[in-house]
Amino acid sequence: MHISAPHIYGSALEALELHAGSSQSFLNLGSGTGYFSCMVANILGPHAAHVAVEINARTIQYAQESLKQWQSANPDITLPPIEMIHGNALQVDNEQGEALTGFDRIYIGATLPRCKLDRIAQLLKPGGILVGPGKSYIVFLMPKEKWISPEFVVVLCLLFMLLFMLLFMLLFMPSS
Ligand SMILES: C[S@@+](CC[C@H](N)C(=O)[O-])C[C@H]1O[C@@H](n2cnc3c(N)ncnc32)[C@H](O)[C@@H]1O
Repeated sequence: MHISAPHIYGSALEALELHAGSSQSFLNLGSGTGYFSCMVANILGPHAAHVAVEINARTIQYAQESLKQWQSANPDITLPPIEMIHGNALQVDNEQGEALTGFDRIYIGATLPRCKLDRIAQLLKPGGILVGPGKSYIVFLMPKEKWISPEFVVVLCLLFMLLFMLLFMLLFMPSS
């Protein structure tokens, strides 16, 4: 096994804006050797939720074994449990587990069709960050915070209408 482009991981880690020692949830799609997952787990610390999905059974077995080796070589560092799932990144069920509430951070290590990005972005929490390979480097997708709810828009419209009516009355209604 080899890591083909380790320099990418520096940029990807930066782009993910991980909060060290937090309870951020992280999803690694195409987790391969588990190398990147280990780096993320090391930064996030023991309270984070971490799911790694890999399509190749042998690779995931390798990742699990090296994670164990790494952990026994570094007993003083407590990594969060990394849930390593053998499966297709394109079929992550958003009705189950951590995906139900969404992930704070998603990294796409696998080459996935661009047209599937929207579906994957749905696995993000509002304000979450998704980092994945772009044409030449890395793309960042940051869905906007959903702070404007439909109810908020209705209330805002009603307020504007009220204000408009008041202004209209003040300007055009004859004063007695
Ligand atoms: C470039 S490697 C990722 C390396 C990884 N970041 C690491 O730290 O070792 C891409 C991985 O994505 C996996 N992959 C490709 N398509 C996938 C899919 N649809 N679902 C899950 N994994 C996939 C490949 O088997 C491969 O291990």
